Amino acid sequence: MTHGISPNLALDQHVARRRSKGESIVHLGFGESRLPAFPPLAQRLAAGAHRISYGPVAGDPDARAAVAGYFDRRNLPTDPEQVVLAPGSKPLLLALQLALPGDLLLPRPAWNTYAPQARIAGKKIFETPIPQDVGGVPDPEGLLDTIRSARRAGHDPRILLITLPDNPTGTVAPPEVIGRLAAIAREEDLHIISDEIYRDLVFDPGTVVLSPAEVAPERTTVTTGLSKNLALGGWRIGAARFPSGPAGERIRAEATGLASEIWSSLAGPMQEVAAYAFAEPSEVVLRLAASARLHGTVAQHVYESLAGAGILCRRPTAGFYLYPDLQPMAGVLRRRGITDAASLQQQLIDEFGVAVLSGAALGDDPAALRFRIATSQLYGDTVEQQQLALEANDPLALRHVAQSLARIEESFTRLCG
Ligand SMILES: Cc1ncc(COP(=O)(O)O)c(C=O)c1O
Repeated sequence: MTHGISPNLALDQHVARRRSKGESIVHLGFGESRLPAFPPLAQRLAAGAHRISYGPVAGDPDARAAVAGYFDRRNLPTDPEQVVLAPGSKPLLLALQLALPGDLLLPRPAWNTYAPQARIAGKKIFETPIPQDVGGVPDPEGLLDTIRSARRAGHDPRILLITLPDNPTGTVAPPEVIGRLAAIAREEDLHIISDEIYRDLVFDPGTVVLSPAEVAPERTTVTTGLSKNLALGGWRIGAARFPSGPAGERIRAEATGLASEIWSSLAGPMQEVAAYAFAEPSEVVLRLAASARLHGTVAQHVYESLAGAGILCRRPTAGFYLYPDLQPMAGVLRRRGITDAASLQQQLIDEFGVAVLSGAALGDDPAALRFRIATSQLYGDTVEQQQLALEANDPLALRHVAQSLARIEESFTRLCG
């Protein structure tokens, strides 16, 4: 088995190379939240410099207790024993796929790392279409069909991986869908991995987010982290909440054993940051709210631009992604030489200087004219610009933000005109 660089990371490096040669590119291809480091976090990091020991594999007690409190406040009563911290949620997601028996059921499209991790874990992947209005979850009836046909063919689908809120569609699956999926998981004896790394970035605080861990607690493991909500991707802080009870303990023990052979523990200074951030003192709560507000304002503006250009897209309600569908414009695009997701991605960057990630990289049909937009790098290139965007009453009125948004609108209008 060979592994190339993950397509989103490869695209990010490609954009950096082209920019270094002087090209002007609006980078919508990489889901990094480009916001300044929150000063209290940097202070905690410095204070944690003395933590030079390896520490316990699952995490230091103060960090695990803070993560347990974070879940408690989200309707998921949690004992610190159920928590494992790691350098990012990515390795935890891999450890889970290695620890859990059976094959993988995956919504289509889905974040581009799940499928390669399943292959590393030696699993078969059964993709199943997402509903019309939201992503991150399979359409429940489609899921049942997929399970039945996989079993008829002699396979053993046992893991359902969902993303709540979702990357790439920027949507939150409603409680009814989660309830139905939890019921199917019980009937079909599936374990649910619920990737909730975007949970704190829901635009409307009134949106109800129902984790499957609330309705099927005995069979759901939740992953989260600080990469997205606090824009700390490079600090690599992730956490998982395993089910309580003997089955959950077995999975946790297996995942912790794998962790001990791969990453040993979360870096000591990061344990200090995690203990502070997951405890959510009031200044962190305010910071999370300001970030969600900014992401929402910009993503929703881009949605309006797409809609104005006649492009089909689910309305984003969380995170910082959109997943436009240009399939209805296939005729117009064919005349431009665009015939599939790859040529669409290529022409957007070559002709318009707009970098997006093709749907094919997310497991979607390579022939479908769909791609993912990440709006999280539109807040400016300097820390000053990003801080202004975060604090502005109307970030859309800031010159540097408005310029990028105007270019996006113009590019899509011309592409589809
Ligand atoms: C859905 C999803 N899950 C997990 C991750 C990985 O996050 P981490 O930085 O915690 O490894 C990402 C990052 O892009 C993501 O989009």
